[in-house]
Amino acid sequence: MKKLLSIILCSTALLGACGTHKASEPTLKSALADKFYIGTALNSWQVAGRDSNITDIVTRHFNAIVAENCMKSESLQPREGEFRFRQADEFVAFGERHGMHITGHCLIWHSQLPRWFCTDEEGNNVSPELLRQRMKTHISTVVGRYKGRVKGWDVVNEAIMEDGSYRKSKFYEILGEEFIPLAFQYAHEADPEAELYYNDYNMFHAGKREAVCRLVRQLKERGLRIDAVGMQGHIDMQYPSLEEFEASINAYADAGVKVMITEFDMSALPSPWQSANLSDTLSYEQRMNPYVDGLPDSISAQWNARMMEYMQLFIRHADDITRVTTWGVTDGNSWKNGFPIRGRTDYPLFFDRQYRPKPFVEELIKSKK
Ligand code: G3I
Repeated sequence: MKKLLSIILCSTALLGACGTHKASEPTLKSALADKFYIGTALNSWQVAGRDSNITDIVTRHFNAIVAENCMKSESLQPREGEFRFRQADEFVAFGERHGMHITGHCLIWHSQLPRWFCTDEEGNNVSPELLRQRMKTHISTVVGRYKGRVKGWDVVNEAIMEDGSYRKSKFYEILGEEFIPLAFQYAHEADPEAELYYNDYNMFHAGKREAVCRLVRQLKERGLRIDAVGMQGHIDMQYPSLEEFEASINAYADAGVKVMITEFDMSALPSPWQSANLSDTLSYEQRMNPYVDGLPDSISAQWNARMMEYMQLFIRHADDITRVTTWGVTDGNSWKNGFPIRGRTDYPLFFDRQYRPKPFVEELIKSKK
């Protein structure tokens, strides 16, 4: 059914958005229409259509979108009771205008969380009762506003550590493990039809994998809705291995949920966590930001080959994977240019700084012709 819906969405969007291109034109979303949704994260500047090249890429090649920042709690409710929906409304309207699957990101997250949510004026943690009320108000107001329009929500983001322990967030400090089932309960009450997800990074770490499978089973045993887990998919040229990643896809599917690759990007740069000598700043910076003037052909070939290996892995698991979403459209607007080291020039996404599809993307499109 999902695949049929994806094909319909894809052709509808093509008809709807094909002011500038033929409906029959082979695209990324048409190449993957019978596999999974192919999506991207959008920022508000892109949603506003400030770059027609970006709009053209997004409407031609993708059939799913997720909000990069405008649906996070610091954006939606910067002060208690003061909701700001303009950017989120524009984001949802963009998705509806182009016939896209719309994901809300993210309801409960320790980051980009306004200070008032979990602490009082003196910086002390609020009571469990007050935090439960604030979570219920935030989730029911936000999910309720987009009922029937946002198809799925990242209900809880990044709550588990690589060793399988719970992140010691304010939510955990105040409510313990219970904050997670509460969040899923509130979201389901606000929109019983919406899909509900747990989303996290490094979901290929064995410790985190086991803990997330345990969490999924606990939620299901309590009769709570959880449709899928989001494996963010922020990877690099060395890590993780395909085998490790595939072991997690299988484990989550065995736990009885679908899998989504929710924030897929592959850094082409050296990782500071791999034995970088921190002492000599100048050579360090050269070594850690080596491709300012472009990616050497040899590195580009390796990067494209590894990206194709990962896409073929996802295609092999299309029965378990419902969506693959890249965390950004072109290399120039990727968060990876500023993380984990500010001011670098990275090449992590499907389209380059000149809006061209990467070679592996062209290969994927051609493979469907
Ligand atoms: O909106 C303010 C702007 O008013 C201010 O002038 C500017 C300078 O400080 O900051 C702007 O906010 C920035 C925000 O992005 C919107 O652009 C924040 O500083 C910046 O920290 C924030 O970064 C986001 C990051 O989450 C925060 O952790 C990235 O754009 C976003 O791509 C990234 O996305 C996360 C996912 O939500 C969860 N998974 C990990 C992923 C990468 O961190």
